[in-house]
Amino acid sequence: MPANLFDPATEFVGRRALVTGGSRGIGAAVAQRLLDGGAAVAVTARSHTADTPVDAVFIAGDLRTADGASAVADAAVRELGGLDILINNAASARPHVGGVTTIPDQEWLDSLDINFLSAVRVTHAALPALRKSDGAAIVNVSSGGATPLPGPIIHYGAAKAALNAYTLGLAQELSPQGIRVNIVTPGPVLSPGGTEIRQTLADAAGIDPDETLVGVPMRRFGEASEVAEVVALLVSPRGSWLTSHNFYVDGGVGAL
Ligand SMILES: NC(=O)c1ccc[n+]([C@@H]2O[C@H](COP(=O)([O-])OP(=O)(O)OC[C@H]3O[C@@H](n4cnc5c(N)ncnc54)[C@H](OP(=O)(O)O)[C@@H]3O)[C@@H](O)[C@H]2O)c1
Repeated sequence: MPANLFDPATEFVGRRALVTGGSRGIGAAVAQRLLDGGAAVAVTARSHTADTPVDAVFIAGDLRTADGASAVADAAVRELGGLDILINNAASARPHVGGVTTIPDQEWLDSLDINFLSAVRVTHAALPALRKSDGAAIVNVSSGGATPLPGPIIHYGAAKAALNAYTLGLAQELSPQGIRVNIVTPGPVLSPGGTEIRQTLADAAGIDPDETLVGVPMRRFGEASEVAEVVALLVSPRGSWLTSHNFYVDGGVGAL
């Protein structure tokens, strides 16, 4: 075991990471945590924000198409000179408060593209580089919505369920080759996207978003940095025997 195994300031020195959706929220926190540990990091999104880590390489791209996803992965490998860590985190959910049957067909297709197929496509484009790495690791960021949620974002939940099935199958195939693959499932986290969705759903239900905390044993929203810490553990040398699991970082929601 390396002497710096537990040194958070150096454990990622020499590692190269791509974080999709790293411009803000959980993705930005993950990217910052990897940077703080000494990694070279590329983040990707359609737009840069004030929260985008300044020391990361920013790659602009839209992950909803096969070409967009592979272009992003190729650019990251080129910019970083290889790849050791891949975090598929980008996602998007547009609530339809009228319920399941009001979600148009195109919305289902869009949801599958960004919340499921983007991860498949980025992963497959990045795999040749990951296979050259010594001890590569992938984390796909899912959602508690992968188990049934009420109607307004069921298209998002169904895409995340597909992501979970894909990820665990991928883990079975890649783990024997030395590439570890895991899922992280956040609970309700304070992030631009998460906060906006919760507000829309709460408005439709005529409640305050804080009232939903009754379903969270710890009775508070999570911070993006709390999710980032677990992602970092999974892709670090500390997680060297962790693969093919779904880790809930959710203040206890998953235990209910
Ligand atoms: N926050 C929560 O409460 C919560 C709960 C459960 C699970 N999660 C999961 O955690 C992850 C991060 O969530 P978050 O709340 O931090 O999200 P967020 O604040 O909405 O940020 C989403 C990120 O994804 C990028 N993105 C969205 N559409 C994209 C596209 N078509 N192409 C490329 N990039 C795109 C966004 O940048 P652009 O829009 O500029 O492209 C942004 O960087 C997601 O996988 C989400 O499902 C979050």
